Amino acid sequence: MSTIRVELGERSYPINIDTGLLSSQDSFKAQIKSGKAIVVTNEVVKPLYLDTLLAALDGVEVNVVCLPDGEQHKNLTQFDAVTTQLLEQHAARDTTLIALGGGVIGDLTGFVAACFQRGIPFIQVPTTLLSQVDSSVGGKTAVNHPLGKNMIGAFYQPQSVIIDIDTLKTLPPREFAAGMAEVIKYGIIYDAEFFAWLEDNVQELKDLSPEHLKYVVQRCCEIKAEIVSKDEKEHGIRALLNLGHTFGHAIEAEQGYGNWLHGEAVGCGMVLAAKAAYEKEWISKSDLDRMIALIKLFDLPVDAPEHMNYDIFMQHMQHDKKVLSGAIRFIIPTAIGEAVVTKDVEHHILQNILNS
Ligand code: NAD
Ligand code: GLY
Repeated sequence: MSTIRVELGERSYPINIDTGLLSSQDSFKAQIKSGKAIVVTNEVVKPLYLDTLLAALDGVEVNVVCLPDGEQHKNLTQFDAVTTQLLEQHAARDTTLIALGGGVIGDLTGFVAACFQRGIPFIQVPTTLLSQVDSSVGGKTAVNHPLGKNMIGAFYQPQSVIIDIDTLKTLPPREFAAGMAEVIKYGIIYDAEFFAWLEDNVQELKDLSPEHLKYVVQRCCEIKAEIVSKDEKEHGIRALLNLGHTFGHAIEAEQGYGNWLHGEAVGCGMVLAAKAAYEKEWISKSDLDRMIALIKLFDLPVDAPEHMNYDIFMQHMQHDKKVLSGAIRFIIPTAIGEAVVTKDVEHHILQNILNS
């Protein structure tokens, strides 16, 4: 098993990564201090993995909350539904919530954990590639508002993250590709060597080689843990993790949550950010081409929806959480392995890349 620590003083926690962890009693039981837990999952993940987790929790008093599946349910209605069930099930301040599912379940459960009785412990058990490499680590919790994605939320760190690579075996290929967008993101913003390794191992990853997947999840979690440990609340370097998200959130909101997957929108957003960088002469043509080629190799869309022009993107991007004093801040790659946060992307450049 690999263990990576997110170093945040008294809120530090481990990320454990291996195959078979979901059925390991040792992974879970020691962490449920009060002996009471509530698993929050959804109707897709429940039949696949709940029984295995319940067996690992043998001896713990466990209740289950099962939500409808999908990004369109990451909202205040489901937040209210979960808190109601917690109250009905007599959850208390020492009850541990366990988020079993992808990023939607993790973000929503984390936000409930942050708010319920002003904060109760929670464990992330991510079951999608995207949630294993990104959303389960770092304590960003949230629900969506019709006017903007992740607009209502809190920074609230989990007590631990338990990643069982085996769960990726049941992930639909489109969801796997969406997770690869966030994986490629780490290569572009932080680690040129990792980017090159991805280029060399596309087929092994698409074939779900456990050894390759474990390396990918481990490297991404190492990078994320390092960044979050330096900048938990996104005052600086953590903003780089939003590469592709300013454009991507606009696509998700315009298309209706759940129609384009989050990772698909991020992949396309990264292509737009790279094109902006090229127009500004901040990256070379060969770096631009390598980025687009790798995103395409993982079957991710690289073109924005046909009808989405500059005006439509701008309407959505004004609501982005990175807008400060009225200026949109973009994450722009400056090479493979490096990126910057900047307000300095001129309107004519945005018009060129968004109207083409
Ligand atoms: P998701 O949670 O909707 O999961 C994708 C689909 O896969 C769902 O239908 C889910 O039920 C299903 N699923 C989950 N595990 C499965 C498995 N093992 N086998 C088969 N099916 C499985 O989507 P996601 O891509 O995991 O997460 C996207 C969400 O994460 C978005 O809401 C995004 O905003 C959020 N996010 C948050 C952060 C953060 O830092 N908190 C970072 C990135 C993304
Ligand atoms: N996924 C962006 C972040 O965690 O900061």
